[in-house]
Amino acid sequence: MRAPTMTWDIRGKRVLVTGATNGIGLEAARSLAKQGAKLVLVGRDAAKTARCLADVRASAPGADVSSLLCDFSRQKEARRLAEEVLRRFDRLDVLVNNAGTVFKNRTLTEDGIEATFAVNHLGYFLLTQLLLERIIRSAPARIVNVASIAHRRATMDFDDLFYERGYSLVKAYGRSKLGNVLYTRLLAQKLAGTGVTVNSLHPGAVDTGIWSAAPAWMKPLIAILRRFAFISAEEGGRRIVQLVAGPELSGTTGQYFENGRIVDPAPRARDDALARRLWQESERLTGLKPGAQETDAAKPAAAGTL
Ligand SMILES: NC(=O)c1ccc[n+]([C@@H]2O[C@H](COP(=O)([O-])OP(=O)(O)OC[C@H]3O[C@@H](n4cnc5c(N)ncnc54)[C@H](OP(=O)(O)O)[C@@H]3O)[C@@H](O)[C@H]2O)c1
Repeated sequence: MRAPTMTWDIRGKRVLVTGATNGIGLEAARSLAKQGAKLVLVGRDAAKTARCLADVRASAPGADVSSLLCDFSRQKEARRLAEEVLRRFDRLDVLVNNAGTVFKNRTLTEDGIEATFAVNHLGYFLLTQLLLERIIRSAPARIVNVASIAHRRATMDFDDLFYERGYSLVKAYGRSKLGNVLYTRLLAQKLAGTGVTVNSLHPGAVDTGIWSAAPAWMKPLIAILRRFAFISAEEGGRRIVQLVAGPELSGTTGQYFENGRIVDPAPRARDDALARRLWQESERLTGLKPGAQETDAAKPAAAGTL
């Protein structure tokens, strides 16, 4: 899908990056601060986030960098984060949904949701929907959702969304990442005409903290990947930066990038009916009402269904 092309310069743009305290999120944050973006780092641990804030400021002297806290496994924290962003910042030019994780054993959040799905999919969905009006008002603007190639083997079973039967880390992770791609594509359709683009990406197989939670049987495979296939967190971070800052992508929306290039996602991720069903389910699970994010800027092209 192509949106009208607009000039894009990342300098001075307000960019919020979730999961900015490790791995590719931290590397992307460093790079974007150096390029002159006004950066908001979101972390979940206060001490670690403060360290990363100092680190990013040190690597980009004079840059406008601040931080906020949120544990995306708790919906009330995502709501508090959104309120804080709306209170503190008049504009939000780029939202990077990147915070992601895995769980060895099936875990339910305090909201009663399987934790991988809660953090990796509903975390993106809820924060984005709550900030959407502000993002639309800031247009031209961008939303970047960090998904994964793991979506390719995933299923979306609404009769057992939380894996009461047959949980595995790999299956739950894949489902959450399929959610990222489905959400991105449908959101892009709904945002047509607003000047806001939304794309998702697989950053590559990257040597980051996320692999440390893998079960014992995966460790030998990870060791081989680390030796022969993994790219560095810095390189993975550059894949995010490409989507955030690349002026050539001003008109690109609803796309999925793998290793820096636009490719078709899995057939299941292109199923519009599945995307609509997931959207409804995500609204239900987060307590968001359809149409709650209607704005003047979005009417009539995107109104009613945002
Ligand atoms: N690494 C890969 O090969 C790969 C491949 C495909 C996609 N991805 C995606 O890339 C994204 C970043 O992952 P990464 O590889 O950089 O992993 P990482 O090094 O483990 O970083 C993950 C980031 O997410 C944060 N996070 C985790 N759970 C959170 C929660 N409940 N609430 C708030 N923040 C939370 C972490 O916070 P802490 O610093 O406090 O832990 C950290 O900042 C994820 O969405 C992942 O699915 C990674």
